[in-house]
Amino acid sequence: MSYYKIKDLENYFKMYKKSVREPRKFWDKIADENFIWYQQWDKVFEFNMEEAQFKWFVNAKLNITKNCIDRHLNKRGDKTAIIFEPNNPDEEAQHITYNELYEKVAKMANVLKEQGIKKGDRVCIYLPMIPELAIAVLACARIGAVHSVIFAGFSASAVATRINDSECKMVITSDGGYRGNKVIDLKSIVDESLFNCSCVEKVLVVKRTGGNVIMKEGRDIWLQPLLDEALGNHVAEIMDAEDPLFILYTSGSTGKPKGMVHTTAGYMVSTAYTFKNVFSYEEDDVYWCTADIGWITGHSYILYGPLLNGATTVIFEGIPSYPDHSRFWEVIEKHKVNQFYTAPTAIRALAKESVEYIQRFQFKSLKVIGSVGEPINEEAWHWYNDHVGGKRCPLVDTWWQTETGGIMISPIPFVTPTKPTYASLPLPGIQPVLMDELRNEIEGNQVTGSLCIKFPWPSMARTIWGDHQRYKDTYFTAFPGKYFTGDGALRDEVGYYRITGRVDDVIIVSGHNLGTAPIEDNINEHPAVAESAIVGFPHDVKGNALYGFIILKESGENRDKENLTREINQLISEQIGPIAKLDKIQFVKGLPKTRSGKIMRRILRKIAEGDFANFGDTSTLLNPECVEEIKNGRIE
Ligand code: WT7
Repeated sequence: MSYYKIKDLENYFKMYKKSVREPRKFWDKIADENFIWYQQWDKVFEFNMEEAQFKWFVNAKLNITKNCIDRHLNKRGDKTAIIFEPNNPDEEAQHITYNELYEKVAKMANVLKEQGIKKGDRVCIYLPMIPELAIAVLACARIGAVHSVIFAGFSASAVATRINDSECKMVITSDGGYRGNKVIDLKSIVDESLFNCSCVEKVLVVKRTGGNVIMKEGRDIWLQPLLDEALGNHVAEIMDAEDPLFILYTSGSTGKPKGMVHTTAGYMVSTAYTFKNVFSYEEDDVYWCTADIGWITGHSYILYGPLLNGATTVIFEGIPSYPDHSRFWEVIEKHKVNQFYTAPTAIRALAKESVEYIQRFQFKSLKVIGSVGEPINEEAWHWYNDHVGGKRCPLVDTWWQTETGGIMISPIPFVTPTKPTYASLPLPGIQPVLMDELRNEIEGNQVTGSLCIKFPWPSMARTIWGDHQRYKDTYFTAFPGKYFTGDGALRDEVGYYRITGRVDDVIIVSGHNLGTAPIEDNINEHPAVAESAIVGFPHDVKGNALYGFIILKESGENRDKENLTREINQLISEQIGPIAKLDKIQFVKGLPKTRSGKIMRRILRKIAEGDFANFGDTSTLLNPECVEEIKNGRIE
């Protein structure tokens, strides 16, 4: 029996038990049967939770790109590996076969070597969502360089911080990038950031927009002429299982981003296995994840997971609202997408628009739809399930983190019955637990607590680049012997998990613990409301009171605000209780969001408190302009 594919619910429970009782056997078999290795491991894993030391597939040797590309060439050489859908729908889509991908990655790998990049060197990749981004990532992995992809929406100072932190020797960028009707001058952002980075020796520049760029003599080189000269084959570097594969930065509770380090073998095994099961991927399916490769979702589920399974994966350069709000739906029809994976924030934004944008689509090709990044509220869940999934495609609400490398808790399509807003059950190999304030594990069902993972899994991040102590402190100290996720969760009567939001977003009002997420869910159910964010502010009597920032739907914009305020509080009163009523409600046009779509509550908290002096680092905001508007409209 193979462990790689979960067939039905009974099989799931069987595999799950096996993975907990005999984790070595479980992962040994999956790793052995589904990948190619230069050398097998001596031990499946060894670890020390207290010291936060983890090793998987100890002493194994491999190259992840051999598994992503080379081994498919016999059977799938002419199969499309990557479909590139450009920002502009009038520009032709590209289909890159596995054979072509091999050659492109080999050439790129040879170029990197010629330009002085060696195994272990860090390479910063700052590119728009174009095929070269995928190729650059894979080429780094091919030669054993550690890639550090920086989302191409980050500012020069954010780029500089990240380049310096990991001491990158090279930056791969482009003249520019398209995003809707905007052109972003990526090269000039890199130029600006490099004033403050002495570690970078070379900058390779991809031509995408044809915009004017300044090429610095001796540092900057156009990539294409180098590729034209390069050999189209390359012998992959032999990597140790625990050699770092990449660094990816994620924001922490302090200003300094955390460079999460992922290593080779464990990451490979987890991402391949979870991709196969969570998306129920079958040969010839076309899979599309709308994330950016600059985030972990793109690393694991646009590139590595799909390619490890020999899948066809779509890379989309554009945005959901360009040229209009039908774009996602058009791309699904155009490429006959079978699995579609996106974020609640995109769903809510599209659900806010007229149904005419989606009504005319049948989505006949779709089999599975997925969600990731934040709790999906009830209304968005149903909209997505009904309008996109047609109530027939399972909606997989996948919970995981940059740190976990791969999906941890998620339904398995056609196996796990879905339940709105529930990420449902842990995947085999993942052992979630809920903890109370006294650091005790909470047993039984119908309970809530802090979500921890009590046993290691292959794709967990191994450290924070250059700061193992911070890694230990952040993840392994709050609940000794366990990995602390920072999230709160509820376990229902059958053991399904619902992620309720960051534990740090709990507000205590008159001694009652109130989660912001459930209140927001409630408010969002009001027909006039598009989105909302709740924060606490100090209150003489209650300790904290609640301040709500609410974006209205177009249909709600002309409504009387006093009536709306009353109705919203009435709704909360009925659904949660009068204790959860908002003291202040401010209607706003936008909410400050990070580029991964998370609301920056820190800023809202400051505004609610009337403290305009110190907003901290706002360089990672997607829409800094809304901060001014919210400040001006603050309710006293
Ligand atoms: C945090 C991790 C993992 C890919 C993208 C985000 C929240 C993520 C869900 C979900 C509820 C979710 C958690 C988590 N989150 N997925 N399905 N339901 N919350 O990666 O930026 O590292 O953020 O995103 O709060 O801790 P990230």
